[in-house]
Amino acid sequence: MARILSTLDPDTLTQACDALRRGEPVAVPTETVYGLAADATHPGAITAIYEAKGRPRFNPLISHVSDIDMARAHVRFSPLAEKLARAFWPGALTLVLPLEPSGAIHPLATAGLATAAVRMPQGFARELIATFGRPLAAPSANRSGRVSPTSAEHVAEDLGERIGLILDGGRCPIGVESTIVAVEDGRLRLLRPGGIAAEAIEEIAGLAVERQQPQPGEAVIAPGMLTSHYAPQAAVRLNAADVRPGEALIRFGEAPVAGEDRAHAVFNLSPAGDLREAAANLFDFLKRADASGASAIAVAPVPAHGLGEAINDRLERAAAPRP
Ligand code: TXA
Ligand code: MG
Repeated sequence: MARILSTLDPDTLTQACDALRRGEPVAVPTETVYGLAADATHPGAITAIYEAKGRPRFNPLISHVSDIDMARAHVRFSPLAEKLARAFWPGALTLVLPLEPSGAIHPLATAGLATAAVRMPQGFARELIATFGRPLAAPSANRSGRVSPTSAEHVAEDLGERIGLILDGGRCPIGVESTIVAVEDGRLRLLRPGGIAAEAIEEIAGLAVERQQPQPGEAVIAPGMLTSHYAPQAAVRLNAADVRPGEALIRFGEAPVAGEDRAHAVFNLSPAGDLREAAANLFDFLKRADASGASAIAVAPVPAHGLGEAINDRLERAAAPRP
């Protein structure tokens, strides 16, 4: 079983760096979700991430940096990319940028693509990267296909038997993964809605963010986007206007849902109707609704603007037909 160390403990940074230097993956809190981090330049360390998660190797990882100069050593910034990094880093925005030929991010982390996804996280994770001195590849710290973890307990339940060290920084304040945007010749393509609203990116960029779906037969652009994902054990029923026997209910805002009193369990993402609060609660409530023993999880509508785009995206993936 993994050791769990608090990020408040002064020795944790050293212990985590030691494990990373040995090529071991470490679960690290970020403002979005917990990541399973390892040296992005070290093939053995990256392989250990894929193995712990049971993740297909064709699905590339995000490389996390502590400052823009560290990112610049590995990927090429256009003026538009630079503008977005300055506005949103450190924070929940991942930029997909062309690789710098002299960069050292290992091809296992990029799945051999000519681009890399990079992000500068907030808080302890950023401090860890600065101390370690190299980018950290980190997918969400869950087994492939499962709901992303927003607490150290979530990580321990899912990966505790498969990894050596979990750093506990409490609950993740944003609660959904970063927004992923590909920056290409003055265009922005949204590869995954996430913790920064697309509207906020458009405002800084002065450009529309293109929500382009990949064409059949086209190479997968963000493979994690396509399959059933974030899947609880129980079936998930979206846009529920009522609760059916045996179902747990996840709802949003003040309006009650018909049959709510007979629900197996009821979780309100945000009684006040705040999408930020709803995002922060989403994965924890999906896990708890699942653990309630309900046969299915009914989810009442959540507004689609702002962070609601990411929330609805994750809910649709949770409800998608399973492979
Ligand atoms: O908030 C987050 O982004 C969290 C925390 C830990 O930073 N990380 C995260 O990683 O969600 P992961 O591996 O669960 O999702 C990364 C996504 C995948 O869908 C992957 O396909 C896509 O990023 N991706 C990575 N590199 C890419 C690239 N070069 N081009 C397109 N998509 C890429
Ligand atoms: Mg993930």
